[in-house]
Amino acid sequence: MTTLQIQPAARAMAIEYAIRDVVVPAMALEAQGHSILKLNIGDPIAYPGLPTPQHMVDAYAAAVQHGMNGYSPSYGLPELRTAIATDEQRKGWPATPDDIYVCHGVTEALQIIFAALLEEGDVVLAPGPHYPPYMAYPQMFGARTEEYRLDPNQGWDLDLDDIEARMSDKVRLLVLINPNNPTGNVAGSAQIDALLNIAEKWPNCIVLADEIYDGLDLSGDQVAVASRSTSVPVITMNGVSKVYFAPGWRIGWFGLHDPTGRMTLVRDAMERLLRSRLCASTPAQRGFLAGLEGDRGWMGAYIDKVRKQRDRCVERIRGIDGLEVQSPGGAFYMFIRLTDPKWANNDKEFVLRLLEEEHVLLVHGSGFSSVRGAGHVRLVYLADVNVLDDAFDRIDRFLQRHRG
Ligand SMILES: Cc1ncc(COP(=O)(O)O)c(C=O)c1O
Repeated sequence: MTTLQIQPAARAMAIEYAIRDVVVPAMALEAQGHSILKLNIGDPIAYPGLPTPQHMVDAYAAAVQHGMNGYSPSYGLPELRTAIATDEQRKGWPATPDDIYVCHGVTEALQIIFAALLEEGDVVLAPGPHYPPYMAYPQMFGARTEEYRLDPNQGWDLDLDDIEARMSDKVRLLVLINPNNPTGNVAGSAQIDALLNIAEKWPNCIVLADEIYDGLDLSGDQVAVASRSTSVPVITMNGVSKVYFAPGWRIGWFGLHDPTGRMTLVRDAMERLLRSRLCASTPAQRGFLAGLEGDRGWMGAYIDKVRKQRDRCVERIRGIDGLEVQSPGGAFYMFIRLTDPKWANNDKEFVLRLLEEEHVLLVHGSGFSSVRGAGHVRLVYLADVNVLDDAFDRIDRFLQRHRG
């Protein structure tokens, strides 16, 4: 007899998260005693050599020890909002502490921003390919995500004509992820200015700038979107997860840059939502504060390591028949094109077979965009060079065994 199932909401059942979905078969292999080279998750702590800086850990631990275990104000600890605003001013926009709202990671910031803005029929225009929550969450509010094209042959640059063609009154948020996950492309000031010029023609539209990888810019071209805007409203997001190497703390923030005063009602809506969910983790906010206020000399060595690993991956990919890559300008991802016809239309099968046969775990590109990511795989290049070399030896062997 089948048990009657209580029906969940369709909006939840529509959610897919490719990055974690492929972990299930990997865990099954591990349970059988195999060890897996996991190059799938953008968590620096999962790889050796990139620990959370000690002074930040100490500040977090001290906060717990010294009884700072209560709720914080809903918008964040005042000291932290001030430190974030000061940091953003250095990036070139006039942030005040009141413009900064601390969340449980950028992921919570996204949920609040979408909940505050989106109505039935609205559109979020986001880069294709992109980090999956940009697709998953808007539909929960009756809105939908449309993708604009990143050019796969030009370093995944923004296709500004495509953005322009897709703009309408329905587009409430125009998203820029800079540097981008999964492609690693970095938009410089000329492209950002062009994007802002497009957005300016649509008074209903806010530019949403996800700058969570800004400190991991290897190109030198990255600039804060808000620093370029004198008229378009911009919401900036960032946090402790990537640049400060503490993703498990779940601390992020969003900041409002409202040069022409058009976000007053939106701000009110966001503040209501923030108050209703109490606050982000108090001791973790203390840890982030130590990162912002402390010496940042440690970052240089981290970036050097990431750069070295990127360069090695690009070199290895150039030597493998069946793979191609546009060298990423930032973050820590390679979005690799599968050129062999056997896999070009079959990136998920490639990932699953590679896992099964060679015990290397990547993520299928179609999980980042069914159209623009198809035929690609994403590799996280945070592992040491010798691990990356081992992975590429296995990928090469696999490709040689399975030619189309
Ligand atoms: C572009 C982008 N935004 C946001 C996040 C998540 O940020 P947080 O850990 O602050 O929720 C990620 C995580 O991979 C990401 O790639």
